[in-house]
Amino acid sequence: MVFITGGAGFIGSNFVLNWLAQNDEPVINFDKLTYAGNLNNLASVMQDSRHVFVKGDIGDTVQVATLFAKYKPRAVIHFAAESHVDRSIHGPATFVNTNINGTFALLEAARGYWNSLSETERAIFRFLHVSTDEVYGSLGVNDAPFTESSPYAPNSPYSASKAASDHLVRSYGRTYDLPTLTTNSSNNYGAYHFPEKLIPLVIANARAGKPLPIYGDGQQIRDWLYVNDHCAAIRRVLEAGRPGEVYNVGGCNEKTNLDVVCTLCDILDQLDPKQAGSYRDQIIFVEDRPGHDRRYAVDARKIERELGWRPMENFYTGIRKTVQWYLNNEDWVRDVQSGAYLKWIETNYNQYVSMREVAN
Ligand code: NAD
Ligand code: DAU
Repeated sequence: MVFITGGAGFIGSNFVLNWLAQNDEPVINFDKLTYAGNLNNLASVMQDSRHVFVKGDIGDTVQVATLFAKYKPRAVIHFAAESHVDRSIHGPATFVNTNINGTFALLEAARGYWNSLSETERAIFRFLHVSTDEVYGSLGVNDAPFTESSPYAPNSPYSASKAASDHLVRSYGRTYDLPTLTTNSSNNYGAYHFPEKLIPLVIANARAGKPLPIYGDGQQIRDWLYVNDHCAAIRRVLEAGRPGEVYNVGGCNEKTNLDVVCTLCDILDQLDPKQAGSYRDQIIFVEDRPGHDRRYAVDARKIERELGWRPMENFYTGIRKTVQWYLNNEDWVRDVQSGAYLKWIETNYNQYVSMREVAN
């Protein structure tokens, strides 16, 4: 049994779906269901006895400790976070609360649980912390990509809160011997990506005939990683990573934002042509994001060398699949944008809880 936090969000739900498709081992999926948590993503596994969904806050040490004692997980895989840089600029408090205080509370619960285990169980247990390349700050165009020993230099409240959480995780490994693992990944894209982030926002706006906003000059560079590749990397680190180590995870796909948006427009022009003109006509340049990092690039040679992981998808194959997913799942986008998913969650979560109570 593994304990997953944030498994109703973008990466977490992909991870849960991939895990259950490839393993018989059950998961506890612990998620607060903030605006970013969508039970719809998990509809296909809500009746699966290997998937136990529990609504809760990682800051609630008592609830987490009770679940640890009840289910005895062999690992915690920690995705839960506030993840959107723009939101962190307008309201940093939730980021500090969830990403720093929440991670601290989760670590405390994990430490207490780990101390209660037998020696053999303690040796197997892992706390895997899912983090971001943004903790390393911004690169110049000619700088070498981030390695695991790059200095921390976060520039947004989001990345600062993730940096703090990384430091806490590291300290629990060094001070208390908790077997921790940290992954720092580049920008993910793929199915179930909330349409406030660049790629899903552009796809949704393009199809709705709305402007496609590019911050500043659009020459900022991100390294894009297909979400299923990220999930495979996390599974690999969980199984074979060395406790106390950090692994950078990247897609080897550096692109400027303008390139990404133009590529999306070109694919949409092929798959879902407009009556007249190109989706590129909807591109507009808008005011830049404050503190906007110019470039991220990840050196992922350590995870390849030590654990044999490398991404399977290149940007052109991954982005086509992603656009196609959004074309095939218009209802998902519509429900998220209208807020209908929140009502759906309320109804279905209550039904789910009743069903589980009967089953137990
Ligand atoms: P997301 O915003 O889509 O999902 C976050 C999930 O966490 C949601 O389901 C939300 O309900 C849940 N959550 C939030 N606060 C919680 C709390 N206090 N208690 C329990 N659950 C809570 O995020 P994502 O994009 O899937 O990112 C997942 C993790 O991966 C984050 O830690 C993020 O920093 C990291 N990461 C993301 C990317 C990316 O490109 N999206 C890249 C690198 C690292
Ligand atoms: O690098 C990993 C990080 O990638 C993760 O840690 C974060 O959780 C994740 O949200 C993502 O952060 P970014 O800020 O890079 O992602 P976002 O999709 O918000 O923006 C990508 C780039 O596109 C960034 O340079 C800002 C720009 N942008 C974004 C939006 C939403 C635009 O130009 N226009 C937009 O409307």
